[in-house]
Amino acid sequence: MKITCISGSPIAGGNNEKMVDMVLKIAQERGFETDRILLSNLKVEPCTDCGACKKSRDCPIDDDMKGIYKKLESSDAFIVSSPVFFGSLSAQLKALFDRTILLRRNGFLLKGKIGAAIAIGGSRNGGQEFTIQTIHSWMHIHGMVVVGDAGHFGGIAVKPFESDKEGSKTVMDTANMLCNTLSRLNG
Ligand SMILES: Cc1cc2nc3c(=O)[nH]c(=O)nc-3n(C[C@H](O)[C@H](O)[C@H](O)COP(=O)(O)O)c2cc1C
Repeated sequence: MKITCISGSPIAGGNNEKMVDMVLKIAQERGFETDRILLSNLKVEPCTDCGACKKSRDCPIDDDMKGIYKKLESSDAFIVSSPVFFGSLSAQLKALFDRTILLRRNGFLLKGKIGAAIAIGGSRNGGQEFTIQTIHSWMHIHGMVVVGDAGHFGGIAVKPFESDKEGSKTVMDTANMLCNTLSRLNG
């Protein structure tokens, strides 16, 4: 069973990538295969609504989505992490989300996979909950099974992540909830 973490931050080694490292460590310790998609080092252009993916499984935009589609399809579960930008998710992550309409139009290829969300902002109440709910919307529209942190919505943190003990707990709880659900659904 493979768990893939997606970081929507443009900053390599930043707060989101630290959260992703924490999640992946938990998943690995619990025996899951893991992978990561870090948008700090990938180029993903926005969807242009050209309609090509209604006719075939190919997107005419030549960028890193080709590899990302393969990683998404081969994963059983996702934790998606975003910085809060003006109260919502990053533009980098939104571009990735919109491009996944190809997978929905060509057989709902993410249906039944498990998803969870984590978000970090510069302020304690800077829009993390709304950001998480926006990520959850993407998951629901793909027919995924969405989980939180076994109490609330998911991982909610404030930067710097390494100093946010309360936020770290919600990120760890979200990782464990995802692992528990994946184990339970797959016997
Ligand atoms: C354009 C922009 C908008 C931002 N808007 C918010 C915001 O609305 N709320 C908030 O709490 N933090 C906001 N921040 C701060 C980021 O969420 C914060 O720096 C985040 O932890 C960055 O994560 P990273 O280090 O992984 O990139 C904003 C930062 C930028 C650059």
